[in-house]
Amino acid sequence: MKNQQLSEFNRNERPVFHLTPERGWMNDPNGFSRYGGQYHLFYQYYPDATCWGPTRWGHAVSEDLIKWERLPDAMIPDRDYDIGGCFSGTALTCEDGRHMLMYTGCCPDPEDRQDRGLQTQCIAFGDGTKYEKYRSNPVITADKLPQGGDSHEFRDPKIWQEQDGTYRAVIANHNADHGAQILLYRSADGLDWEFVKALADTGDKPGWMWECPDFFPLEDRDILMTGTMGEVHTICRIGKYDHEAETFREDCWQSMEQGFDFYAGQTVPADDGRRILIGWMQNPQTAQKRGIDFPINGQMSIPRELTLDGGRLLQKPVRELESYRTDGVTYRDVILEDGEEIRLDGIRGRTVDMELSLRLGEQEAEGTSSYEMFRMRFAADGEHYTEFTYEPQTSVVTMDRNCSGPGKTELTRVQTKTRDRKGRMDIRVLLDRLSAEIFINDGEQVMSAVIYTDRHAEDITFYVKGTAMMDIAKYRIKENK
Ligand code: FRU
Repeated sequence: MKNQQLSEFNRNERPVFHLTPERGWMNDPNGFSRYGGQYHLFYQYYPDATCWGPTRWGHAVSEDLIKWERLPDAMIPDRDYDIGGCFSGTALTCEDGRHMLMYTGCCPDPEDRQDRGLQTQCIAFGDGTKYEKYRSNPVITADKLPQGGDSHEFRDPKIWQEQDGTYRAVIANHNADHGAQILLYRSADGLDWEFVKALADTGDKPGWMWECPDFFPLEDRDILMTGTMGEVHTICRIGKYDHEAETFREDCWQSMEQGFDFYAGQTVPADDGRRILIGWMQNPQTAQKRGIDFPINGQMSIPRELTLDGGRLLQKPVRELESYRTDGVTYRDVILEDGEEIRLDGIRGRTVDMELSLRLGEQEAEGTSSYEMFRMRFAADGEHYTEFTYEPQTSVVTMDRNCSGPGKTELTRVQTKTRDRKGRMDIRVLLDRLSAEIFINDGEQVMSAVIYTDRHAEDITFYVKGTAMMDIAKYRIKENK
């Protein structure tokens, strides 16, 4: 890749408030943690090409989850046991103050007919900048799998420490009988591990293999979150973990993303008690099929604050983003007339944070009219646009990037049902140079999309069938170099 191409990309196309790799390929967030007073985020990184290759751990730090500083890579695949990649994992702070990483080492297995790598769990220690792999790696190998557990689908440890100082880890695994399963391991010192049990398995949920489990407390519940392979999803099970009995009782589960591009989420507790989620803003099935020549492939989602409301998980962009807002433009009681596509002065751009509140037109209270469909197009010019629609009668929302231009994949349209709010719809729309994220009704649902539309396509338009009223507050997000 030519340096000139990279500097042009940096100037004009690189996302402004989403973490991207300096060059090449990025996938899952790893080791999302607080250490030394900062947020640390590692990530699956292959700098030599814009497709997946044996991954290392890229590393970035942040004070506020929006502005990131890239540090030297924390680990590269350079040992027999991880030469095929330092796969995903997590981090914690040891009692002696070291930053501890637990990850999956992948190495070739000449015996495997499908040419899959052998996966084992490994440890590294560091000081927030430099990391060294533990000399007796790997620490969990195939002999510690339960019967039937596949050693080629055994990855992505999530490590935590219990109150008594002992360690636990949950690890994703495939078992021919149970499909996907999440295995629980126990250790006194974080180095010598024993298998405890399968904490959860596929049951009625999607996916033949689950990846990247995260397991964390939220308010009075515990959440087990996984990426599912097959039909790609991120799902979370909401329930209660009994730390004595080491059992997880699930109350309900939900899908965490209704758009195209969100996977392999990880959370971190902030110092003020918030639980923050970040994900790879990409769909693993389409990530390598975009057919355009860009110096990078991959970016992180906006970090999301998680809360529970009546047993349902809500997600909102981290509040830190609000201090990057500038050039505010607001409108109240805008009347959208039947069949008229409108633009509003000042409502445009490609680095945008916009709140939009939609309700029935004025006569609606008397029941004289209603609207059948609301449509917003953004990243639009004469030719290209990405579209969000809402049909109040059925409560269906749709995101469509069929006309978004270059780099389009076959996955161009997603649909989901929202809660019926009698024609009311509140959305928060974040646009960065290569993406759109739409938070619906205070974060009950989220739709994320990577788009590669030309950066000059800055229009935003609104249209209804019927009549509706709308309030809007729109800000530009400042560049934070
Ligand atoms: C998920 C994943 C993980 C694995 C990593 C390898 O996207 O497949 O399960 O650790 O990517 O890069």
